[in-house]
Amino acid sequence: MEISNVSMKNKEEEVETDETVDNILAKLEKVKDPVGDVYRYRYQGFWIQEFSIKGLISLQTRFVARNEDILLASCPKSGTTWLKSLVFAIMKRTDLDFKPCTNDNNNSPLFTTNPHHLIPLLELSSLPIENMMPRIMNTHIPYSSLPPSIKHSDCKIVYICRNPLDVFVSHWHFSHKFFGDSIEPRHLEESFDMFCKGIHAFGPFWDHVLGFWNASLEMPHKILFFKYEDLKRDNVFFIKKIAEFLGFPFSAEEENQGVPKEIERLCSLEHLKSLSVNKTGKYSIGLFELSNSSFFRKGEMGDWMNYLTPQMAERGKKLIQEKFGQSGLMFNF
Ligand code: A3P
Repeated sequence: MEISNVSMKNKEEEVETDETVDNILAKLEKVKDPVGDVYRYRYQGFWIQEFSIKGLISLQTRFVARNEDILLASCPKSGTTWLKSLVFAIMKRTDLDFKPCTNDNNNSPLFTTNPHHLIPLLELSSLPIENMMPRIMNTHIPYSSLPPSIKHSDCKIVYICRNPLDVFVSHWHFSHKFFGDSIEPRHLEESFDMFCKGIHAFGPFWDHVLGFWNASLEMPHKILFFKYEDLKRDNVFFIKKIAEFLGFPFSAEEENQGVPKEIERLCSLEHLKSLSVNKTGKYSIGLFELSNSSFFRKGEMGDWMNYLTPQMAERGKKLIQEKFGQSGLMFNF
């Protein structure tokens, strides 16, 4: 097929997808978010915004995973940015000149590019970066909705989850960034009430996490599941674990040279946050343009204590116990 025909075909497919999405959206239950003029639609059991549903449908119909692909999966605000930077640094480490992290002597693209531009969000771009070997991509799509070729190929999945109350607080702050950098967060109670009802970005949170958790128990060779909090407690251990899982373990020489430790420093919140690209750059999501800085806030464990009232915390903890109690997955408070 000639190139012009290919692009015409893509345009036709796009129009077709738009029509399909409009028809689908018209039939879905929808709820307006308390922050801003944004609707979430209940699609295949999860609350998703319009632009992501469009991306998801396009992926489900067109995406074909390869055995060597790497998919980074998460519920938004669980540490995706961190995971992206770590996996990028691990997989690209032979291209890097590991010297102490200063702005003038390191050649990692992480110094000049936001991690979200290095590893695309599949439902947003619909395309992995083809010239990246292996292809590394990211998604917030729930396990049950993933394209079949991801589930049935040897493609590896790395899933990060985080204490639900910290995810809520992080997301509550983040959701205001769609409307400007200087808006004071508001509507805490309504937002928390919706979170507890499962109405949240790619929520219900518990169904998202449990989908990947249960699949990881069944297929530990395919899905590596871990918590943000564990990554915080022992970053180097998990850097090595991820490298091993992805089939690219550190050699004894690399360990002696301190490469895992350098990756930890390169990808630390303090370091990434200090880079000019992450202070001033922009990132587009759907119709919105966000500052790269929106992805780097505090990165603290237990920040929920600074925002939730005792009653809200009690409700949240009870809910988490109820939803995760039987699963073997524990969150500490
Ligand atoms: P807080 O809002 O609690 O600070 P995501 O990347 O999934 O959008 O999640 C964003 C959360 O991860 C934010 O949490 C952000 O500060 C934190 N984060 C971003 N980069 C990080 C890093 N390199 N190390 C640890 N936490 C990081």
